Amino acid sequence: MDNARRDALKGMLGGSAALVALAAGAGGVLAQEAKAAAPGGGSDFGRHEVAALPFDAGKLRGLSQQMISNHHGKNYAGAVKNLNKTEEDLAKIGRDSAPYLVAGLRRAELTYTNSVIYHEHYFANLGGDGKMSGRIEKLVGDLWGSKGKWEESFVTTGLSLGGGSGWTVLAYNFHTGELRNYWSDNHTTALAYGKPLLVLDMFEHAYQLDYGPNHTKYVEAFFENINWDEVNKRLEKAEAIAKLLKA
Ligand SMILES: [Fe+2]
Repeated sequence: MDNARRDALKGMLGGSAALVALAAGAGGVLAQEAKAAAPGGGSDFGRHEVAALPFDAGKLRGLSQQMISNHHGKNYAGAVKNLNKTEEDLAKIGRDSAPYLVAGLRRAELTYTNSVIYHEHYFANLGGDGKMSGRIEKLVGDLWGSKGKWEESFVTTGLSLGGGSGWTVLAYNFHTGELRNYWSDNHTTALAYGKPLLVLDMFEHAYQLDYGPNHTKYVEAFFENINWDEVNKRLEKAEAIAKLLKA
């Protein structure tokens, strides 16, 4: 892979060195670069930082400032803190470590890593006017038959998690090259080879304060605040990555 193509990949992947390496399918020097550039890579385990809320918490429709602030400042920030602590502990494991301790730490690592990724996508795809437009509107229409059919599938998937916990994710599947709605009943049953485009948090902390057990109203409010411009930006990057992966 030449430098120009590698730089292009890094830009599209938001600097995600792990994905750059994955996309490149190369080791050696590139793998070393990926390690050096990776968040928490090298000797920097446990240095993830809380991303700022990308909108005014008091400006959403039907999702209160208190609930959004609690969600961001307590639940999401807590995942960042736990990820850092888990990585610090993982940096200490060695051949003499008890397997059950290593397994527990690896489980926690994936849980908090995915929680951080999903929460950052979730907050970043809020703060909009809720009006689907652009490339994403065309694609879901082509794939599901209509925008309404896609929405029905996504909402039904989200509601199946009501009263429990999990995520609903519209994702670009790099294995098939298509979009799909996926379900996760925790943080770890995630698509192995994809990019989240739209993320809905269905953990009770995302709606209990405003809606109690009425998760249907919460999903309606979520749709009124979707930032479809952000979703279109993610889709544009996913399609560019998919093109490079095929090259
Ligand atoms: Fe959450």
